[in-house]
Amino acid sequence: MSILSSDAKDTSRISISAHYTGYVWYRHGLSAPDFVTVAGRVANAALTPINAFLRKVAGASIDTFLLQRHNVIDHLVSQLVEEQGVEQIVEIAAGLSPRGYRLRQKYPQLTYIEADLPGMAARKGSLLKKIGVGAQHQVRACNILEESGDESIAALLATLDPGKKTAIVTEGLVNYFELPVIRQVWARMADGLKAFPAGYYVTDLYPDFADHPSYKYVKFAQGLVGFFTRGDWPLHYPSDEAIRAGFSEDGFAGVEVHDPASFYEQLNLPRAKTATLVRLIRCAV
Ligand SMILES: C[S@@+](CC[C@H](N)C(=O)[O-])C[C@H]1O[C@@H](n2cnc3c(N)ncnc32)[C@H](O)[C@@H]1O
Repeated sequence: MSILSSDAKDTSRISISAHYTGYVWYRHGLSAPDFVTVAGRVANAALTPINAFLRKVAGASIDTFLLQRHNVIDHLVSQLVEEQGVEQIVEIAAGLSPRGYRLRQKYPQLTYIEADLPGMAARKGSLLKKIGVGAQHQVRACNILEESGDESIAALLATLDPGKKTAIVTEGLVNYFELPVIRQVWARMADGLKAFPAGYYVTDLYPDFADHPSYKYVKFAQGLVGFFTRGDWPLHYPSDEAIRAGFSEDGFAGVEVHDPASFYEQLNLPRAKTATLVRLIRCAV
């Protein structure tokens, strides 16, 4: 049963954050100029002094963890394609991320479906049309909070080939929702992925590590994201063990919880001076 009213299901206020991250990917050589928006440039200019302050006092900025999560997700998804034979990827809340564009260049055999709220999906659709991507790369409207109907996760997955191994990816999405709400979404994803010969889910997650040496700066960044997107940005789960247990209860198997620090050498990631703050989860059904 739904625990949300229809007003609470309109989370389009969050979409501004995609302009910010879209510009971060571009500024760090991960994207192309077409993915940049004026709002992204303005938001980045506004946050530059705050990022510099956080780097000085906490040894890492908001962008440090954005770049860590983005690169590690790319790596985990690439492994699914190369080693597990995944042929379909559905990136939900893709925003202005260039991941689909980059992965389709690397793996032309992939079907890549990007999904987001209707406004952002329309914007991304026009952008990809302008770039000229192929028919295997499409954009659809999806609201993760809809349990049924045209914009639900079930409807999105129903448009795919049920004979192909499939992965769902989310990035920068799950901490915009209270844990009981996003857990219902995860359970729907796990359920929907069971229709495929193999189903995987990859996401980032910012945990609530209260003993982190920079916890007061984490709380500051949490307030900043909440202010920027006019809502809450709750941290989820106090430990890697709790993350593993939660995802297992929600219907996933083989839950991996990755610390970006374990990829510092392999992926040439920007480093945080203290412990990292983001986790990458990869699981199967
Ligand atoms: C921080 S942005 C992340 C964008 C992209 N994944 C990235 O990392 O650059 C959050 C995204 O979530 C999308 N979003 C917000 N609420 C959503 C919902 N209920 N269903 C699907 N997407 C949603 C926003 O439109 C936005 O594109």
